[in-house]
Amino acid sequence: MGSNGRTQQMHPTRIDLPQDTRIQVVAVLNQSLATTLDLKTQVKQAHWNVKGMDFFQLHSLFDQMAEELEEYIDMVAERVTALGGIAMGTARTAASRSTLPEFPFDILNGQDHVATLADRYALYAKEVREAIDTTDDLGDADTADLYTEISRAIDKRLWFLEAHLQAAVETVAFDKAVSTTDSETESPKAKKARAKK
Ligand SMILES: [Fe+2]
Repeated sequence: MGSNGRTQQMHPTRIDLPQDTRIQVVAVLNQSLATTLDLKTQVKQAHWNVKGMDFFQLHSLFDQMAEELEEYIDMVAERVTALGGIAMGTARTAASRSTLPEFPFDILNGQDHVATLADRYALYAKEVREAIDTTDDLGDADTADLYTEISRAIDKRLWFLEAHLQAAVETVAFDKAVSTTDSETESPKAKKARAKK
């Protein structure tokens, strides 16, 4: 392993969390840093390459999402250093450690870009939610709180993405539900009126 393998090297700090706790929390944070950096580059990839009639709204939405991830990258990296750790935030480290699959280069339209990002946001949301519990169990409520903030925002973004994909399916299900309900709850008077038509 090269010098980048020394991920657990810690600086002395006056913070009151035990070193063993800090080492384990820093490992979790550096994993999140890699995945968040990777996700941000994938969102930018979508921002640049999406095509179709929804181009502008998706181009703008993806830019907002990338900006939001940039904030989390900074929050996570600076929590590492606040705990006395070394933030592992280079592109090479992110690419080698991220848990996400690579973004496909052969997609064009908005729906494929939204579905691709929704898949990755779901994986990221799961990783962040697990980090809430892990850091809480380790006794670092502040890092758990940082993850809770990220988790809530990521779930919201996943909703934004999935709302684009749910419209057609939901409409069909709703229409079916309405027609079933109509025939089941129709009053005898309404039934008679309909029969006369
Ligand atoms: Fe841009």
